Amino acid sequence: MSKVLVTGGAGYIGSHTVIQLLNAGHQVISLDNLCNSSQGVIGRIEELAGKPVQFVQGDIRDREVLRAVFAQYSCNAVMHFAGLKAVEESQTHPLKYYDNNVSGSAVLFEEMMRAGVSKLIFSSSATVYGNPDSVCYSETTPLKPINVYGRTKLMVEDILRDIKQAYPHWQIALLRYFNPVGAHESGRIGENPFGTPNNLMPYISQVAIGRREKLMVYGGDYSTPDGTGLRDYIHVDDLALGHLAALNFLNEDHSLLTLNLGSGQPYSVLEMITSFEKASGIKIPYEVVARRLGDLQEYYADPRLAKSVLGWEAKLGIDRMCADAWRWQKQNPHGYDSS
Ligand code: NAD
Ligand code: WQD
Repeated sequence: MSKVLVTGGAGYIGSHTVIQLLNAGHQVISLDNLCNSSQGVIGRIEELAGKPVQFVQGDIRDREVLRAVFAQYSCNAVMHFAGLKAVEESQTHPLKYYDNNVSGSAVLFEEMMRAGVSKLIFSSSATVYGNPDSVCYSETTPLKPINVYGRTKLMVEDILRDIKQAYPHWQIALLRYFNPVGAHESGRIGENPFGTPNNLMPYISQVAIGRREKLMVYGGDYSTPDGTGLRDYIHVDDLALGHLAALNFLNEDHSLLTLNLGSGQPYSVLEMITSFEKASGIKIPYEVVARRLGDLQEYYADPRLAKSVLGWEAKLGIDRMCADAWRWQKQNPHGYDSS
């Protein structure tokens, strides 16, 4: 069993992964500065898993905090979710993103090195591929991100490839997520964006609950069967299980692991709306508007490598993703501030 430091452990993907880690018998120390999450999630995780989580409110850029955490808890692995993820904001505030995502990661890796911790799973993104010729991305697709956020992810991947080269005993997994959606089946934890949601699924959910009037569908004139954009949506609990599989792999094998975590199955915006309406029984008003700047028409994962290396594959389909997202939204109309 591992003792895992989870950075960004109060966030959307981190919180779901912490539950799966606890369920599998691992111990968890969750470090989060709460810039995009609520401490309320920690109690709910403990309640669902029936086990305690050590929570530390702190920043990955703060060496003193990291030193204290490594000294106190003697972790043997790190899952590094902490980061900023809003593509548009990354374009308007690039230094904020380079500081938080790149410098913050470098501080974390230095402090891991100092503490003798060398097992790491990093949250990368399909965004590192940019806009390649093929819409089905395999791990060997060239890496040419087209926005600042994507470049921060590629820079951290590069740092980790260099660390692996210099210190071959490091055990590193770079996991490139596609579009994570859905929520824990209990409806107790889920995605809780601050402000106006940037992403499709939380926006649809907030329309369904009546917090927003209608969904703007960005582009109805793409060369796709219904004219709207196609993406590879993956249930957040499948994603969390992918992290456990990667941790088990690293315990046995010291290769640098670079994997897509996606379902391999693209769905359109209109298909997601229809599936959500079916799950919730609520009609989602929408308007088709202009394409969103920087959006790609279509992309999805080639998920075969993760299956062959980890024996992991996404199992939960879009109906389940929508049903779980709706349960979370319905039970918590105002996220973790709901009573
Ligand atoms: P999230 O915002 O819900 O979680 C990130 C967490 O990190 C938040 O709780 C935030 O408070 C915390 N955090 C941010 N900067 C920090 C810092 N400097 N120190 C300590 N804590 C900090 O986002 P998420 O969707 O759970 O994403 C988790 C990771 O996965 C991120 O690195 C993100 O870039 C990556 N990722 C997300 C998606 C997605 O669509 N959700 C896709 C691909 C990759
Ligand atoms: C999905 C589809 C939109 C909102 C982003 C990041 C990516 C990754 C995941 C972190 C697209 C359409 C959306 C809305 C819409 N994050 N849409 N109306 O853009 O594929 O990926 O999140 O690594 O880096 O770029 O996700 O959920 O925003 O959009 O029509 O209000 O839904 O145009 O086709 P995206 P998304």
